[in-house]
Parts: sequence; structure tokens; C-alpha cells
Amino acid sequence: MTLGEPHIHHESVDSTNALAKQLAEEGATHGTTVTADEQTAGRGRQGRQWIAPPGESLLMSVIVRPMVPRLQLAPLAAGLAVADVCEELAGVQPKVKWPNDVLIDGRKVAGILLEARPDPELERSWMVIGIGLNTSLDVDALPEELRERAVSLNLPPETDVLGPLLERLEERLSADPEETIAAWRTRDALHGRDVEWQDGSGLARGIDDEGNLLVLSCGGGIRTLRAGEVHLKPA
Ligand code: BTN
Repeated sequence: MTLGEPHIHHESVDSTNALAKQLAEEGATHGTTVTADEQTAGRGRQGRQWIAPPGESLLMSVIVRPMVPRLQLAPLAAGLAVADVCEELAGVQPKVKWPNDVLIDGRKVAGILLEARPDPELERSWMVIGIGLNTSLDVDALPEELRERAVSLNLPPETDVLGPLLERLEERLSADPEETIAAWRTRDALHGRDVEWQDGSGLARGIDDEGNLLVLSCGGGIRTLRAGEVHLKPA
């Protein structure tokens, strides 16, 4: 599984994920990687925008085809790969917030958007893994609402982040499910914390063997969250 070839770079593009998806639809091969210095319509999870000042973060999307067999673990594996590379290049100890935000001291250093085209015939399926990693972001220059929540690796601008990241992604995507789950549990940012989601709240109790988030709900039962997003409950 070699990721990063061919590599298509744009100074400016609407969204590396949108372009990678279009290329995948048109038959681009496994490993095709799109990067950009700037995105004019960067996409986040849950239909949000992803805002990143030009040249201060790694903006990349890679095509994986066929899609990995256990799709639900792919976001967790991608989060682990990003955490690995942060540790390797910046000496930090990131945590992951289910399903795949990467945090340093509770602040977000990277966001991951995974978009998949499943197909009953596995060979025809693909997924695009899009990663925005704050490599040398000037956090103080961000809009106020983002400033409190973002953090940067503060790497020298010439640092090769893409190469090591793609290597870590390859390793994590091809790992055994048990290994992914065990590694993810060691970085779990939410375990034992009060969380809330669209229609509930409770105490996060880690992930199950399928990668779902387990939450001890206020009523006493365990809820299994399979998708969506949770937030730490304000103190
Ligand atoms: C999130 O909401 O946390 C996910 C953000 C993902 C952003 C990255 S930046 C590169 C790629 N292209 C996009 O349009 N989005 C992803």
C-alpha cells in the first residue's frame, strides 16, 4: 500500500478533498495525493467549513482504493497516524478525541475528514482521507472563536511533514483491528470525562472493539455512539 504517488500540488484549490473525490470518481489510482497551500472552500466534518491561513498547515487528501474492509476503523487509524507524526516531528504527546480530532493539551492540532464511496464489489470502492494539520499556524492571528481551541506544532516551515505522515498512514491503515483499538485507547482524550452530544449526555467510557464510543448515560445505561460528534461538557 504505497501512498503519495502521484502527488498533485496546487497553490490554491477549493478543497483538496473535493478534488481528490473528483479524481477518484474519474479512476485515479490508489495512493494519489492532493495537497494545497491554500483552500478557498475547505471542508470540515458535519458540513462545517475548515479555515486555515495559507501556508501555515498541511492540507492534504489521499485516495485509498479499494476502501479498507473495516471502514469504521479507518477514521481512528487516520487519527492515530496524525498523532504518531506529531509525536515524531514535534516531540508532543497528542490525544485523540473520538472519532478523530487530534488534540494537544485539549486544543485541536488537526482535523480529519474521511469520505468514502462503498460498493458491493469491494474492488470498485474508494475512500478519501483529508487531513488539515496545523504545522506552523500563527494561532494569535486566528479569528477569536478559533483562537482558544487551536494549537500548532510550530515546526520550521521547511519540515517534510507529508512524507512521514503518509508512512504512518500506511502503517496504521494496514494494522490489525485489535492493534488499532488498543493504540487508540492509549490516546483517548475523552475517557472518564463528561460529554454531551446532539440528544444526550453522559460519562465517556472508551471505545468498544468496533470503534464505537461507549457512554454511561445519566439514566445509568450504556449508550453506544456509532457516528456523529461529542463535546466535552462545559464545567
Ligand atoms: C474537521 O472538521 O475536523 C475535519 C477537517 C478536515 C480538513 C481537511 S484540510 C484538507 C482536506 N480538505 C478539505 O476540504 N478538508 C480536509
